[in-house]
Amino acid sequence: EAAEKGGYPHFMLKEIHEQQAALQATIGPRIKNGLPDLSECGLTDEYLKGLTGIHIVGCGTAMHAGMVGRTAIEKMARLPAFTQIASEFRYSDPILHPGDLVVIISQSGETLDTLAALKLAREKGAKTLAVVNVVGSSIARAADWTLYTHAGPEIAVASTKAYSVQLAVMYLLALRLALARGALDEHEVGYLTEQLQKAPALQQPLLKNCDQIQYLASQFMNSTDLFFMGRGFDYSLSLEGSLKLKEISYVHSEAYAAGELKHGTISLVTEGTPVIALATQDDVFEKTLSNVKEVKTRGARVILLCKEEAVVPEGAADYVVRLPRLESVFMPLLMIVPLQLFAYYMSVLRGCDVDKPRNLAKSVTVE
Ligand code: G6P
Repeated sequence: EAAEKGGYPHFMLKEIHEQQAALQATIGPRIKNGLPDLSECGLTDEYLKGLTGIHIVGCGTAMHAGMVGRTAIEKMARLPAFTQIASEFRYSDPILHPGDLVVIISQSGETLDTLAALKLAREKGAKTLAVVNVVGSSIARAADWTLYTHAGPEIAVASTKAYSVQLAVMYLLALRLALARGALDEHEVGYLTEQLQKAPALQQPLLKNCDQIQYLASQFMNSTDLFFMGRGFDYSLSLEGSLKLKEISYVHSEAYAAGELKHGTISLVTEGTPVIALATQDDVFEKTLSNVKEVKTRGARVILLCKEEAVVPEGAADYVVRLPRLESVFMPLLMIVPLQLFAYYMSVLRGCDVDKPRNLAKSVTVE
């Protein structure tokens, strides 16, 4: 097993470091003449052009990747997109129009609820696109089209590299949709595609920066409750950061849309409450910063994650983690690295079984 870990103490850390290569393998072959090309699976521009809506379904981390995909599709392709948890979707008698596409995301391709959601979508006459990591899996075989993520085998129960490549495929889909539907022109899509291609290399400094994250984990390892907050993409990333932390370190945390805190949960923020604030989206940066101020005023200990160039007033946060410069829409591909590392080091420092957390399974094939 030690050999399989390739010198890393845990599979999870190894897989976090494999993200860069996995992203390159997932994105690279799908760029033709500087533009995303999904023709490998049979999706045509003509079909994409006629779509009326997209429903994205998955469980756990795959679902969180779907949320990022939804925002990317709406922002770039201006097509209505919806996300639903597979176990909810399958029992909700979903309303699907003939022009709707159901996108099913799953690392294993075997999650029972997700497979059932796919079958239901097909029964209702919708077309289905699977975004799957395991070749030949049940979900891959049952869908109309499949786009494989190329993460390679993921062993740690907590999903890391599979999430990144799921995001990558959703970005490629969003960009191709934008082009097919004329929401963005070739020049704009070309520029954004270039930005997407830059993301894997920009993960490198974040992986190297693990000392800072390890230090932060040492400062927060005895916390019993933590809050994550952010807006838009950063809200979706908050959910994933919180899930990762709960899964492997057993520290309770909640993810909040930053503007929603004041409608209830801020009553829980008192002297020393840890808050991790995600603020990578230029258009709402100031808004999130004012939410940081609200929790700081009530005594919160704040870690702020923001872009390299963000202007952060003195004393606004207790700790600031800076992420490399990239178009805001692709910042989730960078943000995920410190969030995964934070959960990882919290788990290690608290003496938990990082790769095999209690009560959890890598693939849930029962209901
Ligand atoms: C399990 C795993 C999660 C995963 C979820 C969905 O709960 O522990 O890490 O996100 O299933 O799995 P899938 O294989 O469908 O992506």
